[in-house]
Amino acid sequence: MRVLLVAGGTVLMIFGFVSGVFAAGGDAGKGKEAYDKLCVSCHGKAGKGDGVASAALNPKPKDLSDKAYNSKLSDKYLSDILTKGGPGVGKSPMMPPFGESLKENDIKNINAYIRSLAK
Ligand code: HEC
Repeated sequence: MRVLLVAGGTVLMIFGFVSGVFAAGGDAGKGKEAYDKLCVSCHGKAGKGDGVASAALNPKPKDLSDKAYNSKLSDKYLSDILTKGGPGVGKSPMMPPFGESLKENDIKNINAYIRSLAK
């Protein structure tokens, strides 16, 4: 009985830890799925701002795979531009708002993926 309790406690702890990590940092794997559907046409596969639709954009999206640039963007800024679109943060209206279509968790996951693009 005692062993069972300890084992159960350990499982719970590990589970709590793992879900805590995902809640705090977002799941980049899930973020990639959403990015590939919603963002790749403008931002490109690797986040370089070279998607098929980017030729028509002025200004073009900046290179999110550039580590120095990516690290300058705060988590709050990323959430804000995704939720409110470019105009919400004083940027181009060609960056659409996703606040209506994406949940807070989706946005965290996408942001985690954007971070992972930086090399
Ligand atoms: C229709 C084209 C288009 C789509 C689709 C699009 N974006 Fe953008 N995005 C832009 C443009 C254009 C900018 C640049 C705005 C500027 O610099 O004024 C931008 C800027 C950004 C920035 C800010 C980068 C910076 O340099 O400040 C982030 C982050 C971003 N987009 C993420 C996303 C994500 C994530 C998605 C998908 C959920 C997405 N975008 C979908 C066009 C698009």
